[in-house]
Amino acid sequence: MNILIVGNGGRENAIAYAVYNSDSFKKTSGKLYITGNNPGAEIYAESINIEPTDLKSLSEFALLNNIDLTIAGPEIPLSMGITDEFISKGLKIFGPAKNAAEIESSKIFSKELMKKAGVPTAEFRSFSADDMKTAEDHLRSTEYPLVLKADGLAAGKGVIIADNFDEAFDTIKEFYSGDKFGESGKRFIAERFLTGEEVSVFAVTDGTDHVLLPFSQDHKKISEGETGRNTGGMGAVCPVKKFMTDEMVFKINSKIVEPVLKQMKADGREFKGCLYCGLMIVNDDPFVIEFNCRFGDPETQAVLPLIESDFTELLFASAENSISEYKLKVKDEYSCCVVLASEGYPDSYEKGKLITGLDKTDSSCIVFQSGTKKTGNEIFTDGGRVLSVTGISNTSLSEAAKTAYENADKIKFENKYFRKDIGFRQLNK
Ligand code: AMP
Ligand code: GLY
Repeated sequence: MNILIVGNGGRENAIAYAVYNSDSFKKTSGKLYITGNNPGAEIYAESINIEPTDLKSLSEFALLNNIDLTIAGPEIPLSMGITDEFISKGLKIFGPAKNAAEIESSKIFSKELMKKAGVPTAEFRSFSADDMKTAEDHLRSTEYPLVLKADGLAAGKGVIIADNFDEAFDTIKEFYSGDKFGESGKRFIAERFLTGEEVSVFAVTDGTDHVLLPFSQDHKKISEGETGRNTGGMGAVCPVKKFMTDEMVFKINSKIVEPVLKQMKADGREFKGCLYCGLMIVNDDPFVIEFNCRFGDPETQAVLPLIESDFTELLFASAENSISEYKLKVKDEYSCCVVLASEGYPDSYEKGKLITGLDKTDSSCIVFQSGTKKTGNEIFTDGGRVLSVTGISNTSLSEAAKTAYENADKIKFENKYFRKDIGFRQLNK
């Protein structure tokens, strides 16, 4: 069995780890490939020098190397149509087609879909650059805080929470100017601010059936207590047991995942792959904050180490329409992933700092590499988010967090920055 992973961040390192450790993969003498250079994935996969956006070269590589399954990690190749490209060549791939990936690449599409399918989400209105006056009138008459979201992909930076009209108006002027958000901001939505606790739910689906992986919780803000700038994610814990009640699972399945999959299929946009549901739990009811068309980062680095059943078979089942036959088994364990970042992230930061101590971490901890580079035998920082340090425990989430932090301390690089409170919402209960 030969497998190709597209993407080379922490999420893809975790996918490589999970595929490599699956019995179905291990028992074949197959090869695992990953695009780009991720020194952490090198243990499991051979790196190939093709950009995730070079869809033609990727499909040619897959044909030439008898790839049985390609796993698309990031949203950009999916929104460009990597799945359509592979399917047209008769190749198997995990991930949605371009018209289904729009659930992430257009916030307006996603909100309209939710409206049509009756999925609980914040009330919203959408606007485009040619109705600035209507948008301004809305901003003058609506309630605050107000959430403004650029329509297109914006790497987590296109969501602004405005506390008053002036902030909101400045934001839409910035959206329309195109300076910061390019085409992404030429259309935007304004939606009601929801108060509650966020949880990330991965539904792996073949378009009809799905399985829910254990719930996780991301920590999107740069500073402790969920304060400061929004980032791609500074850490994650799994499972979030307080929300994994039968009642909540029933609500998420029946009010969110099932109606969305059914609606997408009916609209000729069947969604296959991982439907990432970013939810806000408001008074025991789940509301959708966002959908993504892929696994989350850093949630994947916390969720995958807890999957006991064969992960590679799960991905094949999605691509081969046999999810109803897949029996998910989850370990009775806990994980806490702490992201080690470069000081300055999510704004500007320096790269090229030597990383030491990676060989000192212990066996209850897995270090996934997010933004690193290998020169000779040494590893250097090469991104904002550098490493994802996942502690695992079979007793409690606090033990998992303790392991993650003890190991995070052993790893050294200049300007290392990390949040000290990953899991705080679950630990203080
Ligand atoms: P998104 O990219 O849509 O997930 O938004 C980024 C972050 O903004 C979310 O993780 C939330 O913390 C926050 N956010 C987005 N929409 C809302 C909302 N309607 N109410 C409150 N917070 C929100
Ligand atoms: N952790 C948030 C995301 O992957 O979009």
